[in-house]
Amino acid sequence: MDNLFNSKELLIDGINKLKSKKILTPEVDARILLSYVINYQNIIYMHNDISISKFEKKKFYDCLDKRIQGEPVSRIVGTRNFWKNNFSISKYTLDPRPDSEVIIDIVTETYCNNVNHIQVLDLGSGSGCIGLSILEDLKNASLLSLDICKQALKQVNINAKKLNLSKKLFCCQANWFENAWIEKINLITKNETLFSKNKFDIIVCNPPYIKSSDVEKLQNEVKNYDPLISLDGGMDGFDSYRAIFKDLRQLLTIDGTGFFEIGYDMLDDVKIILKEFNLKLIRVHKDIQGHNRVIEIK
Ligand SMILES: C[S@@+](CC[C@H](N)C(=O)[O-])C[C@H]1O[C@@H](n2cnc3c(N)ncnc32)[C@H](O)[C@@H]1O
Repeated sequence: MDNLFNSKELLIDGINKLKSKKILTPEVDARILLSYVINYQNIIYMHNDISISKFEKKKFYDCLDKRIQGEPVSRIVGTRNFWKNNFSISKYTLDPRPDSEVIIDIVTETYCNNVNHIQVLDLGSGSGCIGLSILEDLKNASLLSLDICKQALKQVNINAKKLNLSKKLFCCQANWFENAWIEKINLITKNETLFSKNKFDIIVCNPPYIKSSDVEKLQNEVKNYDPLISLDGGMDGFDSYRAIFKDLRQLLTIDGTGFFEIGYDMLDDVKIILKEFNLKLIRVHKDIQGHNRVIEIK
């Protein structure tokens, strides 16, 4: 019995430790970390009375130390809750953000009654959180997840397996700044039975959109842990939009629609770029804070 500790006591101690180091969300962080070290399926609460071993206690205090050093909780536990699931993340993938759920909300609402087969392309898939969430909700969809980073695509496959979606997914490593990227996609849609058309009904994309000069100014939790390639959008933040918009019509079916996340202050400039590439802005969607967050384009 000497080696057993009570979850409530540990939680209180953990919360106090985080509070004393000015961590902004000490209660939630301590609860997630304790749940993680004991492999608890749900998030642990104060009223839970669980015995914790000496080994688990040590692991908990190690996690608290990492948190105090500035490591985000999601990086410590290797997962992040997003939309309806817990997604595995790695150092090669962006930590999914609640703002990116706006795309899923719109897409699932728009297409929920669609009875035809829908082809979805997720550009810059990262962990796969956007594309796979759509794939899970739209039962008649198939998904092509594309990223420049091979290790990120590995994470997409891990998450697809967890969600039992692997059969409806294909991954493609490609760089939208290279001319050959469209040919790579075409080759896949031509040869993979998962895809009956060579174009996509839905394209979703959360590209890197931070101005290069602003990356240094980001919070430590972002700039030290999210991969630079998932953040840096070039000199004005729009490099990826330009590269993708240039070729977008080649990828969309006649009725197809693109859903792109944008930074809260990017709408005016993105409108100019859309015009440049002859694309039409159908609607702008706001996030819960009221910021313009997703553009719907054709
Ligand atoms: C902002 S992250 C979005 C990740 C994920 N969709 C999400 O919302 O959490 C952008 C993603 O685009 C990928 N990416 C960056 N530049 C790229 C390029 N030139 N071609 C293809 N993918 C790229 C990054 O590797 C990263 O996974």
